Amino acid sequence: MEQHNDDLLRNVHRPAFECFLSCATFFIFVLSRQIAAAPASLKEAYGDMFDVGVAIPSAMLSEAERLTLCTNFTAVTPENGMKADAIHPEEGRYDFAEADEVTKLAERNKLKVNGHVLVWHSQCPDWFFVDAGKPAGRDLVLKRMREHINAVVTHFRGKVFSWDVVNEAIADDQAYLRDSKWLSSIGEDFIEEAFVAAHAADPKADLYYNDYNIELPEKRAKTLRLLRELKTRNVHIDGIGIQGHWILDTVPFKEIEDTIVAIHSEKVKVMITELDIDVVPRRSGADVRDRETVGGGDPYAAGCPPEVLQRQARQYAALFAIFKKHADKIERVTFWGLDDGRSWLNSWPSERTNYPLLWTRDLQPKPALKAILSEAQK
Ligand code: G3I
Repeated sequence: MEQHNDDLLRNVHRPAFECFLSCATFFIFVLSRQIAAAPASLKEAYGDMFDVGVAIPSAMLSEAERLTLCTNFTAVTPENGMKADAIHPEEGRYDFAEADEVTKLAERNKLKVNGHVLVWHSQCPDWFFVDAGKPAGRDLVLKRMREHINAVVTHFRGKVFSWDVVNEAIADDQAYLRDSKWLSSIGEDFIEEAFVAAHAADPKADLYYNDYNIELPEKRAKTLRLLRELKTRNVHIDGIGIQGHWILDTVPFKEIEDTIVAIHSEKVKVMITELDIDVVPRRSGADVRDRETVGGGDPYAAGCPPEVLQRQARQYAALFAIFKKHADKIERVTFWGLDDGRSWLNSWPSERTNYPLLWTRDLQPKPALKAILSEAQK
């Protein structure tokens, strides 16, 4: 009788047990699929939405850096190697060697190159603006600017996908344009002239205006004014680069989103071109002339507090949530450096140990990288 009851019990519970087993197997299967589907790289996570780029200091990368670069990115920007002081140090003397190595590296690894930068007030040798010891007049500076653009763009034709033609020409203060030697020597039309010369030298290259803080309403309005003026005059311009040098806890998320939408509605491409999140307290801005003489010291010389890295991770993820939402408007998101040790923010606005990027100094993924990758799955 007892034996009979046992059998009965077993037979009654077996279907329920089998059902439980198959449900559990199903859930484990689904879970494992989700874990397996977690994107392993930035390229895998976002490559279908927009190009993912990074600034590199030169083509001299370690094998580990090259692997991280090729696994994660689809585009590179030479951080300094195409600037006028590097490429055209004296009138008529061009030095393309370092930048050529970058374009070769990019070609071997199927990365797009964004040329940075043709016309900028910084890292531009004085000879452009001097004539026999005196300030050169408009015609001479304009001629030099056109020659420079023509030589550089022609040299890289077919190797450079896009150019930051003019960088940081808009003023941070009440003025419309920044007080620079380009502006004072040539006049406001130096921007238009630069775009015209670049388009003539390579009609297939994408041409961009690039600047910082243009997500903020006043500078955004001036950027849109510039864009409209260029378009009214039928000047060829393909897009606007929002640099994206942001600071922990003050990332202007709403303004960034508004600016992406505003630029896109002008029917040009939108890029985030120099992304990093500074974690060391400082004043603000990204004007390279603005070095702090009394800096805030070097509070994280011995390491960055984990809590700070977590905050940075959450803020990076929130940015990528915006980029993902507006992926139809964004052409490229470029980080300004591969790892924390490579960032310009270790020496500007004063010397300090900074942690603004996605990999540690020994190329270990930071919480920020993991957060950005998981954001892609949401
Ligand atoms: O090449 C010299 C080298 O010969 C010398 O030994 C060394 C000593 O300090 O300096 C080297 O030049 C440095 C150069 O980077 C190359 O490493 C300059 O001092 C340094 O000022 C320069 O900084 C660059 C900065 O632009 C200059 O304005 C940063 O690396 C670069 O990341 C930064 O990039 C800019 C973008 O082009 C435009 N948007 C803002 C962004 C950050 O400032």
